[in-house]
Amino acid sequence: MSRAKEAAGRHAARFVESGMTVGLGTGSTVFFTLKALAERIREEGLELRGVPTSVDTETKAKDMGIPLVPLDDVTRIDVTIDGADEIDGDFAMIKGGGGALLREKVIASLSEREVIVVHREKVVEELGRGFLLPVEVIPFARPAVIHHLSGLGATPTLRMSTPDQSYCTDNGNEILDCRFEGGIPSAAELDLQLNAIPGVVENGLFVGLANVLVIGDDDGGVEVREKG
Ligand code: A5P
Repeated sequence: MSRAKEAAGRHAARFVESGMTVGLGTGSTVFFTLKALAERIREEGLELRGVPTSVDTETKAKDMGIPLVPLDDVTRIDVTIDGADEIDGDFAMIKGGGGALLREKVIASLSEREVIVVHREKVVEELGRGFLLPVEVIPFARPAVIHHLSGLGATPTLRMSTPDQSYCTDNGNEILDCRFEGGIPSAAELDLQLNAIPGVVENGLFVGLANVLVIGDDDGGVEVREKG
């Protein structure tokens, strides 16, 4: 598993050229991209401006010596490299397993190119059969959002940090992990329906945002797919 993640994460660092503004995704696969970028900065003099998608990535990138810029200074991102929890044949994804979906989607929306790095087991026929869909909600609105989500056929569970404490995102919100029995046949439609619920800040469906998919295998090989 970790060999596949390392292969995919490291391969994706090749999409970065000197002078680029680079969105830095979140998760255990992108961790290897950060390592590879830090090496290229040290060894090749690669110059980049990184835009982190989470506090976790910001901390790791700083520790590795990757230069960062705040989002205030950025109107366009050349390439973003990020992970995913599931991705289908149209490059629609479920993201947010690590809780960073909101910032990840904001960064993806500014990106010319979104490169996704995954272990092969995350490439699926249909979203939502194997992974719960994270929905970020304002804590005040949680009961109302749960009611509306149930009306859309979801079974939401509040994500917890400890048995007594709900998980808190980088933005001070909560996450409802939603089961859709039988999967999610139309991600684009559900994305719009979820974000129309008052109190929902963002949901983990990413539709029409990814351009390149780097799939890692356990033998250390990679497959690269470009969106047609
Ligand atoms: C973060 O919230 C997620 O969207 C991550 O991008 C995703 O969970 C990454 O998974 P890995 O840790 O397996 O790369």
